[in-house]
Amino acid sequence: MSDVELVPLQRLSGADLDVLAAAHRRALDGLLTDLGFELVRRFYASAARSSHLFGAAARLEGRVVGAVVGTGQPDEAFTAVASPAWRFGLHVLRHRPQVLPQLAVSWLRPAHAEATPDKSAELLYIFTDQAARGHGIGRRLVSWFMHEAKDRNFDYVTLSVEEDNAGAIGLYEKLGFETWASGRREGRFVRQRMGADLRGGSP
Ligand SMILES: CC(C)(COP(=O)(O)OP(=O)(O)OC[C@H]1O[C@@H](n2cnc3c(N)ncnc32)[C@H](O)[C@@H]1OP(=O)(O)O)[C@@H](O)C(=O)NCCC(=O)NCCS
Repeated sequence: MSDVELVPLQRLSGADLDVLAAAHRRALDGLLTDLGFELVRRFYASAARSSHLFGAAARLEGRVVGAVVGTGQPDEAFTAVASPAWRFGLHVLRHRPQVLPQLAVSWLRPAHAEATPDKSAELLYIFTDQAARGHGIGRRLVSWFMHEAKDRNFDYVTLSVEEDNAGAIGLYEKLGFETWASGRREGRFVRQRMGADLRGGSP
């Protein structure tokens, strides 16, 4: 799929963001997906305007088929999604009360609080649409993120991945990631922390 182009998030149109948010929800099982389309879209729209969130979408024949996004300030990653707090709280209570237990766990004990050295960029989300998988798009997206992180003077890229997600773990290992911690229970998920040293070597 050589005709895949990677586009930084800030260059996406409103229609691209709609497609991206819907594709994110189809591909990724997790808290943001459970919060619903509107908040997923708000997350990517905020990432497109942000100075600390950075990412790119993969476009094939004009259509978004994947994306990667992350930040050096994971504590601030969802500020735009969750503010104002009263409106976010009301939205969750009204439309998604079932996510409250997972929300509490992820909020009180965020994964990036562990196994994260200084000068790390946290890769928050990466996905490729089901129909476009196995053609190197995921590899290109993660590589893009690593290069961008290096350009922004980060020394490491860190991430959390569910322990049974063999596809994603295989992809990360091929790109030089190592497992730094495992068996981390976060609500209904059991995850491992992985990291790549952008300078070469271990932390
Ligand atoms: C993980 C994911 C992004 C891979 O995207 P992709 O575009 O298919 O990845 P690529 O084609 O670039 O594959 C790169 C490498 O990943 C590995 N890989 C990808 N899918 C795999 C699978 N199902 N099983 C084992 N290894 C797999 C392979 O080692 C592959 O290397 P190769 O090209 O030398 O064979 C995609 O499967 C996906 O979106 N999954 C759902 C969302 C997700 O789990 N995201 C990660 C959350 S932490």
